[in-house]
Amino acid sequence: MRGGGLGPTLALALALAAPVAAEEPAQDDPGGAAYAAFCATCHGALAMGAGPTAPLLTVPVPDLTTLAARSGGTFPLARVLAQIEGRDALLAHGAPMPIYGGAFDRGGRVTVETGAGPVETPRAARDIARWLEARQRPME
Ligand code: HEC
Repeated sequence: MRGGGLGPTLALALALAAPVAAEEPAQDDPGGAAYAAFCATCHGALAMGAGPTAPLLTVPVPDLTTLAARSGGTFPLARVLAQIEGRDALLAHGAPMPIYGGAFDRGGRVTVETGAGPVETPRAARDIARWLEARQRPME
């Protein structure tokens, strides 16, 4: 029996069934647009962890605006890229194939400088990580 979260297939069905009516992302904000499309259903439109799918999951959905605060004040860019991309497996993301994985292939890959050295990642993963990094806030 699987522990914890939902299987990837069910998670995908839920993610697709519960689009989030976030405010329209600006054209010049690809990270915000990709976040709204792939992440907001679980992590919430403001990334604070309360998307419409969250109550249906058996594992809590983390607040993504406190990633830096929970990592000693530095946004953990390399880890976040790995988690978005599925290299750092997360049960609810449908690892080893992330539930949004195929959609990320279209934008090509880019190299990102991180505190842990350069990382090659899908363009959408980089855009989302930057969007999240700009939304970090102190713990309450
Ligand atoms: C099906 C719901 C769902 C979707 C869609 C989803 N996540 Fe998650 N995410 C979770 C849950 C639940 C966790 C908690 C850990 C786990 O999955 O085991 C998590 C964990 C994370 C973490 C680690 C947080 C921490 O505190 O260390 C990051 C970063 C993250 N998600 C980013 C994203 C991004 C970016 C997207 C969109 C590309 C996304 N997630 C899409 C449910 C989801």
